Amino acid sequence: MLTLPIETERLRLRKHERRDRDDFVALVTDPRFYEHLNVPERQRSKQGAGEVFDTICASYDTEEPVWGLTVADKTSDAFLGTVALHPIPFGDALEVFYAVVPRRWGEGLATEALRALLQAVPGRAFLALTSPANEASQKVALAAGMTDAGLETPLGGPERHRFERPPIA
Ligand SMILES: CC(C)(COP(=O)(O)OP(=O)(O)OC[C@H]1O[C@@H](n2cnc3c(N)ncnc32)[C@H](O)[C@@H]1OP(=O)(O)O)[C@@H](O)C(=O)NCCC(=O)NCCS
Repeated sequence: MLTLPIETERLRLRKHERRDRDDFVALVTDPRFYEHLNVPERQRSKQGAGEVFDTICASYDTEEPVWGLTVADKTSDAFLGTVALHPIPFGDALEVFYAVVPRRWGEGLATEALRALLQAVPGRAFLALTSPANEASQKVALAAGMTDAGLETPLGGPERHRFERPPIA
């Protein structure tokens, strides 16, 4: 489904490598990362976050890879963040997730990464679901070309703000 790496002006989207593990763990255990996210308690620990990383890496060579990727600096190849695609049950759409290391927020990196990811998979519908309070995430979705589909409240879940990108013919 994805031809990797995906390169932009400043970034390279590629599979995680072992050397990304500490940076990945540092990102996902940072309270600024999960302020607006529904992250299970265990994944907020170093051990739990490391297990998530290991699970993603182990899936790459299987029939059902998890498309969790490193967003790397194009020049140094250093870890700057992560993007992920998740299939949605009972549909063809892919849910997209994006995060950038807090010290690099506000430089347009998430927008650049998401735009490239959407362009790399033109034939699929995408959606992003954000907390209504997550203004930065909403701006990224819009700036990367997604459409505001309004608020929704899934059965038993918290209210979410939905953004969509239809398949491009
Ligand atoms: C959401 C996130 C990925 C944005 O990364 P980023 O690289 O800083 O994003 P960009 O620089 O491309 O764009 C951010 C936009 O939000 C704005 N922004 C940043 N913080 C904001 C805030 N607290 N309130 C409102 N707007 C904010 C920026 O000004 C920018 O808008 P602009 O281009 O109009 O100036 C980053 O904050 C993050 O990793 N958050 C934690 C994970 C997360 O919530 N991911 C979203 C899951 S759906």
